[in-house]
Amino acid sequence: MTSLLVTGGAGFIGANFVRQTVEQHPEYTHITVLDKLTYAGNADNLKGLPDSKVTLVQGDICDAELVDTLVKDHDVTVHFAAESHNDNSLNDPSPFIHTNLIGTYTLLEAVRKHNKRFHHISTDEVFGDLELDDPNRFTETTAYKPSSPYSATKAGSDHLVHAWIRSFGIQATMSNCSNNYGPYQHIEKFIPRQITNILAGLTPKLYGTGEQVRDWIHVDDHNDAVHLILSKGKIGETYIIGADNDHVNNKQVIELICELMGLDKNAYEHVADRPGHDMRYAMDSTKLRTELGWAPKYTDVDSGMRKGLEQTIAWYRDNEDWWRPAKNNVEATYAKQGQ
Ligand code: NAD
Ligand code: DAU
Repeated sequence: MTSLLVTGGAGFIGANFVRQTVEQHPEYTHITVLDKLTYAGNADNLKGLPDSKVTLVQGDICDAELVDTLVKDHDVTVHFAAESHNDNSLNDPSPFIHTNLIGTYTLLEAVRKHNKRFHHISTDEVFGDLELDDPNRFTETTAYKPSSPYSATKAGSDHLVHAWIRSFGIQATMSNCSNNYGPYQHIEKFIPRQITNILAGLTPKLYGTGEQVRDWIHVDDHNDAVHLILSKGKIGETYIIGADNDHVNNKQVIELICELMGLDKNAYEHVADRPGHDMRYAMDSTKLRTELGWAPKYTDVDSGMRKGLEQTIAWYRDNEDWWRPAKNNVEATYAKQGQ
């Protein structure tokens, strides 16, 4: 009989996590989602899930009173809530400071007070970037060197978790994952933006030359890893999550999307680059694989991301009602930036 509190559970990865938990993890008898429902959160992401199993509480993770009550009443908290988009953090860092730093601090204090199990979701971006020809990958011991306001606040939140583990002995684990893709991802992000551009009759947009490399992972593989860490992970430990896609650059991804959607593979345009654009991320998930036995399901040796992208394209094609209302605003914001 385990109850679960999921912060940010109405966002992309959090909602997929809640869905996966309901479908595959009966050990969690009840799930409460705490989500502010910012522009990135959507109650519809939880549509169809039984009310008897999932409750959505609209609220801010910086609301100490609310957070205290919810953490006290649940056995385990998994913390996904964040401001998550690099481009937005370049325009206005303030919500990133609020949610990613103050919000994580607020949760940690409640976890400390009530001695509850906590898992913190983080990103590869805290480690900065690698050169294209650097053979190294990020590991659990790589030094932090974040580049953007987003990644700096995620790095800060990770440091808070490390400090609360070491100084106060909280029962926490952490994971740093690479770029996710899959259903329910906000259309401001690279892959869903290009898929919905094509579906809307717009030209896909590649920043700069597109030689940047992201270590793409399907969201279900990320969430499988989180469940494994919850059940078998060692308290106090950090786990790197990555699916070994660190050889695929943005240009190849956009070409593959064009091809899978029936266009010429060059049917995209180059637009203004992101300031301070990180070049390459690459994750070494050996610890997670050897100690906990995790392996990604969305891989195929020949075509890398083809299987996951086909599934994701089909989802956006079938769910136009979900993405269409946000499309004009997202594209208008990018257009102002020459992107
Ligand atoms: P997202 O932007 O899709 O969702 C974030 C959710 O958090 C939204 O539902 C939003 O409403 C909610 N939220 C924001 N501020 C809040 C606040 N103050 N209080 C309560 N809820 C709030 O993000 P995502 O892509 O699903 O990322 C989830 C987590 O995973 C983040 O911590 C992110 O840093 C991390 N992460 C993301 C990726 C990726 O590729 N997307 C990769 C690695 C790690
Ligand atoms: O690495 C993990 C991170 O991945 C997470 O921590 C972040 O929350 C998540 O947003 C993501 O960050 P990125 O900045 O890497 O993702 P994004 O989808 O914004 O961009 C992926 C790459 O594609 C990046 O190199 C920029 C490029 N890009 C992006 C957009 C939106 C384009 O070329 N064209 C675009 O239209």
